[in-house]
Amino acid sequence: MKQELIRNFSIIAHIDHGKSTLADRLLEETGTLSAREKADQFLDKMELERERGITIKAQAVRLKYHADDGKDYILNLIDTPGHVDFSYEVSRSLKACEGALLVVDASQGVEAQTLANVYMAIDQNLEVFPVINKIDLPAADPQRVKEEIEEIIGLDASDAVEASAKEGIGIHEILEHIVQKVPPPKGDPDAPLKALIFDSWYDSYQGVITLVRIIDGRLKKGDKILLMANKKNYEVTQVGVFSPHPVAIGSLSAGEVGFVIASIKVVQDAKVGDTITHPDRPTATPLPGFQVVKPMVFSGLYPIDTGEYDLLRDALEKLRLNDSSFSFEPENSLALGFGFRCGFLGLLHMEIIQERLEREFGVDLITTAPTVVYHVTTVKGEMLKVESANMLPEVQYIEKMEEPFILASIHVPNEYVGAVLALCEEKRGTQREIKYLTASRVMVVYELPLNEIVLDFYDRLKTLTRGYASLDYEPLDYRKSDLVRLNILVNGEPVDALSLIVHRDKAYYRGKDLVSKMKEFIPRQQFEVALQAAIGGKVVARETVKALRKDVTAKCYGGDISRKRKLLEKQKEGKKRMKQVGNVELPQEAFMAILKVK
Ligand code: GTP
Repeated sequence: MKQELIRNFSIIAHIDHGKSTLADRLLEETGTLSAREKADQFLDKMELERERGITIKAQAVRLKYHADDGKDYILNLIDTPGHVDFSYEVSRSLKACEGALLVVDASQGVEAQTLANVYMAIDQNLEVFPVINKIDLPAADPQRVKEEIEEIIGLDASDAVEASAKEGIGIHEILEHIVQKVPPPKGDPDAPLKALIFDSWYDSYQGVITLVRIIDGRLKKGDKILLMANKKNYEVTQVGVFSPHPVAIGSLSAGEVGFVIASIKVVQDAKVGDTITHPDRPTATPLPGFQVVKPMVFSGLYPIDTGEYDLLRDALEKLRLNDSSFSFEPENSLALGFGFRCGFLGLLHMEIIQERLEREFGVDLITTAPTVVYHVTTVKGEMLKVESANMLPEVQYIEKMEEPFILASIHVPNEYVGAVLALCEEKRGTQREIKYLTASRVMVVYELPLNEIVLDFYDRLKTLTRGYASLDYEPLDYRKSDLVRLNILVNGEPVDALSLIVHRDKAYYRGKDLVSKMKEFIPRQQFEVALQAAIGGKVVARETVKALRKDVTAKCYGGDISRKRKLLEKQKEGKKRMKQVGNVELPQEAFMAILKVK
C-alpha cells in the first residue's frame, strides 16, 4: 500500500459531543457499514458501553474512500476512549495517528476533557482540525464555538466543518478534510520492523489480539516477533484489518494499522505502548513513552452470598484477561468474610468493573468505599503502600504518612467560579491558577489530594455548577500529610470494612456526618443498633437506629392484599443488597455512605 494514499486519524471529543455517531456516519458514507449494522453503533463494542454511551476500548477501522481528486484512499479511524481514567490509552492511540478531528458540540462549546486530549494531540504534532457538530440543534451557535476554539485552544477554526452527525450534514466535507489535511505516514518499509501496540485484548478463540501501527518495516503471518518491553518472542499466526469486520491480509507495512494475532496467551504480555520488532533484525530503539499503568483507586469487593466467592474469583480472572490495568488480590474482612481488594484506574473504571461483575457474571456484590494508595513509613524506616485502612499499622509504629496529589483543571462558566473555589478549598486544595479563557469561561487549576477526589468531588462539582463544570486531572506527587484512621463501630464492635483513612482536620466532622448518614441507610431491626465513629480509641460521634416496633404491613388492615404484597416485595428487593455483619443487617449504601458525606 502506497503511503501517500493512507491517512491515520482519530476523533477527539468530549463525552456526548457525538464521536460515536460521527464515526458511524463515516463508516456508512464510505460504504464500510450497511445501514442495518449502523443501528448498533459498531464502534461501541460492549453492551455496557452502549448503555452508558461511553467508549472504553480503542479500536481501529479501515475505511476505503474514493476522494474528489479521483484517488482511492485508505482511512484508518482510530477510536480513543474519552475519559480521564484512560488517558494513557488515549496517548498511545494518538501516537498511531498523523491527524485528529476535534469534534465540538455546537451548543456546548469546548470542555476540559476535550482540551486535555487536544493538547496531547498537538504536543504529538498531529494535524488537528475542528468539526462543529450538532448544528441541527436549535441552541447551536457555531460561530461562538469557533471563536472559543480559536481563543481557548489556539486552533484555526475559520474553515471548521459545520456538521450534524445525526442528520448526515457535512460528512463528505469531513472526509475531504481528512484526505487534504492529515499528512500521509512517513515510515520506511525497508527498515527493521518497528510497530506500536496501541490496544490489546483477550479473545477466547484467538488468544490475545493486538492492534498495531507499523512505524517502519513490514509484518506478516509466520514472522517471529519480539515484544521489546516484555522481552518475549512469539510467532505471528495472523495479520489483518477491521473493516469493520476482521479480514486477514498478507502483510502490514510501514504506515498501516491493523491487528496481529501471535501466540500470546495473556493480555499482560502485550501491553499498550510496547514495541514489536523482529528478533533477527531488531530496530535499534523501542518507541518512547512506554509505561506500565498502575491502579490509582482501590476498593474491597465481597460477594453478598459467601457461597459465590469462587464465582467472583473466576469472574475477576476473566475480566483481568482483558484488562491489564485492573488488579485484584484476596482480602479477608472480619465483617464481610472473604473477598478481594481490587485496583482501578479511577472511579469510572471501578464502576464499569463492578457493573460487569453483576451483569455479565451475576455476582451480587458489596463494595467498600474507594481509597487511594498511601505511603506509610514505619519507625523502622520501612515504606508500606497502604491501600486499605486495615493495612495501616498502629500509630506508634508510624513515622510518617504521605498521600497522592493531583493537578486538577476545572473549566467553568464565570458565574460558578466562586462555588468552585470554595469547593476546592474545602477539599484541602492549593490554588495554582485562575485563568479567564474568554469573557465567560474560566479555567481553575488546583493541586488537590486524590483522596478527596475519589470521594464525592465530581458529583459535588457537577451539582454546584448545574452540570456546567468539567474536570480533568493528572497525578502529581506524594506529600506528607496528617492522616488518621476513622473506625466505625456497630453495636460496640468495630467493623473493619467500614474504616477509613482521613485527614485529621476532617476526621471529627467526617465521623459525625458518616454515622448520621449511615443511620438513614440502615433499616430498623428487631433491636436497637448503635453506630459510633472513633478516632483511635476515642468515640467522637454516636447515632442510634431505633428498634423495629410495628409490622410493616400492619397499616394495610389486612384488606388490600395487592398493596400488602407490594410492600413485602419492596422489602425483599431491599434485602438483596444486604450483608449480615454480626447480628446486624447492613445495606450496600451503608458501606458507601462516605461518598455522601461532605
Ligand atoms: P462517548 O462515546 O460517551 O464519548 O460519546 P460520544 O461523543 O461518542 O457521543 P455519541 O455519538 O454517543 O452522541 C451523544 C448523543 O448526542 C447521542 O444521543 C446522539 O444521538 C447525539 N448526537 C450525536 N450527533 C448529533 C448531532 O449531530 N445532532 C444532534 N441533535 N444530536 C447528536
